Amino acid sequence: MTKESVIELLTKKDAQKKKSRTPARLDFLQSATGAVLALFILFHLIFESSILLGKDSMYHLTKAFEAEFIIDGGEPLIITGLAFVVFMIFILHAAIAMRKFPASYSEYKSYKTHRELIQHSDTNLWFIQISSGFVMFFLGSIHLYIMMTQPQNIGPFASSDRIYSDVMWPMYLMLLVSVVLHAGVGIYRLIIKWGLLDGENPRANRIRSRAVVKGFVVFYLMIGLFSLGTYIKIGYEHRDDYGQKYTLEQK
Ligand code: HEM
Repeated sequence: MTKESVIELLTKKDAQKKKSRTPARLDFLQSATGAVLALFILFHLIFESSILLGKDSMYHLTKAFEAEFIIDGGEPLIITGLAFVVFMIFILHAAIAMRKFPASYSEYKSYKTHRELIQHSDTNLWFIQISSGFVMFFLGSIHLYIMMTQPQNIGPFASSDRIYSDVMWPMYLMLLVSVVLHAGVGIYRLIIKWGLLDGENPRANRIRSRAVVKGFVVFYLMIGLFSLGTYIKIGYEHRDDYGQKYTLEQK
């Protein structure tokens, strides 16, 4: 091969690379799966905090998800299906996000130096997001697998027994902090990246968006922590009857 033909080949390849839509498509897919998961988690933490209103409320909500209004006694397999779909989106989102992880120790070191040098708050947010994402990779998978395979064990007593007697509360505590931070930072970055709330004055709106997202993070952390505390309390009181399911006659 002559020098000229090698140059021609490389230039062609470069042009093809430039035309490739794959990075843009992956970027969009990452945003879209992230938005679906964030929306899911916002509703999830609210539904799950129904325990704060009492055991009956959580029981009725669980049964509603099992479609008790049309299927006598409810069907936990519906939860298996839902958890499976969420798990698939979760895996897809994580797989696409992996390309943003530092690929080597030297890459990580140069990022660290860059972070210390410029002290840019959005760079720090990126760090929060990859570390919380890393934690969720493991803990989210454990949780989703249990929800998928034991959907019949969801309810005021079954959930509390799992959290207290099966000592799942440390895992939930770490998962709660990671998911709320990850979703909060993710939503903020989506707003910025796609210019969703730019309006007339993007700079001022960016600061406003940041404050609103911070408020959401604190709110969701609070309801998550209070709910977890309530499950722990119920689990502690129920420890001698571990495994016994809740019925509406029991209080
Ligand atoms: C369809 C899928 C899902 C179902 C059916 C589900 C269901 C539940 C249930 C019933 C609980 C109460 C504790 C228990 O029974 O073990 C719970 C707690 C929790 N879930 Fe999920 N979950 C799902 C997906 C997720 C995902 C994808 C995440 C985040 C990655 C997540 C994060 C959490 C957290 C952080 C808690 C503890 C909340 C607190 O501290 O109050 N869940 N989930």
